[in-house]
Amino acid sequence: MKKLYLIGNWKMNPATQEEAQKLASDISRGIKKLKDKNVEVVVCPPFTYLSVVKGQMSKVAKSQAISMGAQDMYFEEFGAYTGEISPSMLRNAGVKYVIVGHSERRGFLGETNEMINKKLHTAIKYKIVPIFAIGESKKDGEGSIQEIRTQLSDGLKNLKSSEVKKIIFVYEHVWAISGGDKTHKSASPNDVLGMRIFIKKILANLYNRRLAESVPIIYGGSSNASNVEGFIRQAEMDGALVGGASLDAEEFLKMVEVLAK
Ligand code: PGA
Repeated sequence: MKKLYLIGNWKMNPATQEEAQKLASDISRGIKKLKDKNVEVVVCPPFTYLSVVKGQMSKVAKSQAISMGAQDMYFEEFGAYTGEISPSMLRNAGVKYVIVGHSERRGFLGETNEMINKKLHTAIKYKIVPIFAIGESKKDGEGSIQEIRTQLSDGLKNLKSSEVKKIIFVYEHVWAISGGDKTHKSASPNDVLGMRIFIKKILANLYNRRLAESVPIIYGGSSNASNVEGFIRQAEMDGALVGGASLDAEEFLKMVEVLAK
């Protein structure tokens, strides 16, 4: 059975540590009941909540697939970088995964493909699994295709195939990201499948077909308990990166159930 990932990206939520603790506790309790092990659940809270989330997750048995991720990380290993967080700090906090290149960081904070490439190198060096996000910034036919090609080739620069195999790729139609709005329209499974095939082709050109076939590609952008099945079964994605719906434990756990079917 193929392994699937359900990754909750809490973004800049919730507002208080108590709420973060409750959310992590509700999710952990729900996961405890899960028998199926083909789904790896990852929760990516803001940095200030890592330790409370870790505390809640430690109540779940080790055999249960729930892990913690960070939403970002700096590419330098140590030094005078005000406001940044290092890979060893994250490792020390119990982080196993890190989101790199999220469209909100590319768009609002000016992260470039070059910075993202450095982050991927550093994460892999520190054995933190990168969740590498790509997606076109606007609907622009050939322009969108070119943008994704560049995000992949520049983002993966000088990474060996043995390193790229450690990455989880996330494709997001950037216009489908909800910003927390539950009524936001997502993409159709057909659109998503088309992009999956296209990304695999680029990876086959950059590396080889075997690598392209083996790396997980998950989908982000307004996924929820009602539409995630289409992304997994019809679009053949290897899971989902979930923003808004990951802040509602019940909805998020329903998504885990759909994937575990
Ligand atoms: P969304 O966010 O599920 O709220 O659209 C997804 C993401 O940006 O990670």
